[in-house]
This record gives sequence, C-alpha cells and structure tokens, in this order.
Amino acid sequence: MTDNLTKVENFNYGIEKIFDKAQDFLPINGTDYVELYVGNAKQAAHYYKTAFGFQSLAYAGLETGLKDRTSYVLVQDKIRLVLTTPLTENNTISEHIKKHGDGVKVIALWVDDAKKAFEETTKRGAKAYFEPIVEKDSFGEVVRAGIKTYGETVHIFVERKNYTGVFLPGYESWKSEYNPSSTGLKYIDHMVGNVELGNMNKWAAFYADVMGFANLVTFDDKDISTEYTALMSKVMSNGNGRIKFPINEPAMGKKKSQIEEYLDFYGGPGCQHIAVATDDIVFTIAEMRKRGVEFLHVPGTYYDTVLDRVGIISEDLQILKSQGIMVDRDDEGYLLQIFTKPVEDRPTLFFEIIQRKGAKSFGKGNFQALFESIEAEQARRGTL
Ligand code: FE2
Repeated sequence: MTDNLTKVENFNYGIEKIFDKAQDFLPINGTDYVELYVGNAKQAAHYYKTAFGFQSLAYAGLETGLKDRTSYVLVQDKIRLVLTTPLTENNTISEHIKKHGDGVKVIALWVDDAKKAFEETTKRGAKAYFEPIVEKDSFGEVVRAGIKTYGETVHIFVERKNYTGVFLPGYESWKSEYNPSSTGLKYIDHMVGNVELGNMNKWAAFYADVMGFANLVTFDDKDISTEYTALMSKVMSNGNGRIKFPINEPAMGKKKSQIEEYLDFYGGPGCQHIAVATDDIVFTIAEMRKRGVEFLHVPGTYYDTVLDRVGIISEDLQILKSQGIMVDRDDEGYLLQIFTKPVEDRPTLFFEIIQRKGAKSFGKGNFQALFESIEAEQARRGTL
C-alpha cells in the first residue's frame, strides 16, 4: 500500500519531477468546486459574498424544480463555492448537518474524463459515492462521478468539456442586486483533512495508491508541537501540483490537540481548512477584516524576530504586523499566510489566506506561533 509514499517520502517539493505524465492515471486540471452543507444557505451565501468578496453565480432550488434542497453557487476568480441546505427533515443533507454542523461535503475535481477517473480509482480500491452520470440541458452536457474519502467527505469528478452553461445542468444563472467587490482571492491552494489518531498513513496511502498522488512532505510532532498539543501531517499532491491535500492526525500531548477538538465537534474526520491564494495579501486581509472576518491573533513579539528567520522581504513589516500576517521561507522563496477563526460556531472549518512568493511549502516556521494562538482560542472555549 505504501510503496508510492516511501519512494518520495522526503522529496524536496520538486513535484513536477515526480510524475511521468504518461503514467499519471488520474490527470486533474484543478479544483472544480467545493460544496459545503450548511444550515441556512441563503444566509451563508450573504456572509461569503459580504465578508469574503464572492460573487453570485448560479442557483438551484424550488424555483428550478428541486424539492429537497437549495444550492447557491458563488465565484471569485477560479474559486467556486457551492452552499447547499436541505428543505426537508428526512434527507441525507439534514443528517449530515445534524452530525457535523456546517462543513465541506464535496471537494470536486475537474477532469477531462470523469468515467475513466471513476474507473481508475474504484479499480484501485476507492468506494463509489455515485456511478458516472451524464447531466444535460440546453448548454450541453456534464459527466460526473463520485468516490468517498475520509469521514463523510467525497470527491466528485467533473467533466465539463462539452458544457457552456453557467455551472452545471439544473442550475440557473443567479443575478443579484447585491454585489460586494472581490477581496482578491484567486484559487484554492490546498485543502486539509483531519483524521483520527493512527489513520494519517491510511489516508495518505489512499491518495497515493487510489488517486496516484505523491507525498510531498511529512511533518511529525517534533515539527508541530507545543508544550501541550501536537499533530502530525503528510502533504499529498497530484501530478501537476494543482491539488494538494495535507492529512493531519492528532499526536500525543499533555492536553487535547486542536485536531482532537475538531474531531469531537465535527463528529469524525473532515475538512479542517481551505487555503485560498491571493496576489496581494495585505489588500485581501485589510478588506476581509473591514468586512468582519475574524483572524487568529499573532503575538506582537512574533514580529521582533521574524526577519532574522526569513531574511529580506519586500513587504513593510509594520503593515504585516498590523494585519497579523505571518511569513515563512523555504529554499525557493517565501510565503505570507494568515488563518481565520472557525467560520461557524463549532470549532471546525476555517480558512487560510496565502500569498506565495516562490515558496512551495506550507509555513512550517510559523507552526509554533500558530499553535500557541490556536491553544489560546481552545483555552477560551474550555476545550484544551
Ligand atoms: Fe494550510
């Protein structure tokens, strides 16, 4: 099961070299959409438009012939977010929300051949979520198929090369009078899954063996720990590097780790955070703060020593400090990053905003400061 993993275990971020394209049995063009199941999609859509700067794209619900759910599709540059809410009690979406609260159900992957993606992955052991289906309307056709991943999360393969509609068949264009401006979010950089203690390797092997991904980098509890809590993580990437899925599991600490807190409140494994990229993080964060998004607090002392660690950067350190933006460097460049607080009342899903200036890594140098900040929040919740 783990051959693929050990071969590239300590590979130094040079993803393009890992795969011979001809052998990549699951070519993926990028993230197609991310679907969240939420308790009130109408209000969630308003939040993501106002606070995150998404725009209205498409809608499906009672008015379009659906009886059991409503979905709002939001867009910002290459990011498509689908917010779905159930309309009835006896409904798999209702069950999902009862158990998990609001959270990520679908990480949809854009492929050229959805049927082949389904066949190649199920043949290697993926459990089917649904068999390939062809959906049509006057704009053409879309082929989709789904497989299951950690917890109740799923991947849906989307083949849309014969489709010119606004989103998917069954959705109508959503024109709104309310159109807050963009905050500069561009694309999904990575999406992180939290799994139970002892299951990180199982899910890393799933992405290696079933999806053909490679392990870019591994963090153990020596990299990511404080006096109290720790986690371990393996970053899995597809062949062209457009899809990156770090998988976390809790590690032993004196008190409850942030991953255990997530697992307790989410009711099992699930997506912990969605990292979205921007070309101008100072602008993006200033806008998001103005619009009410809450971010983790970075201690002011972080900025006393950060430049000793990362060297010369082109941003004004005082501005980064005032916005709480963190910096890290690897062999190829540096990155700027910041994390929101959870975006729902359960301490589960949150967002990361990241700007890469050459660096292809994930901010290892910030883990310590970040963990201390997360623990301070956990202490306030009484869950440490
Ligand atoms: Fe991240």
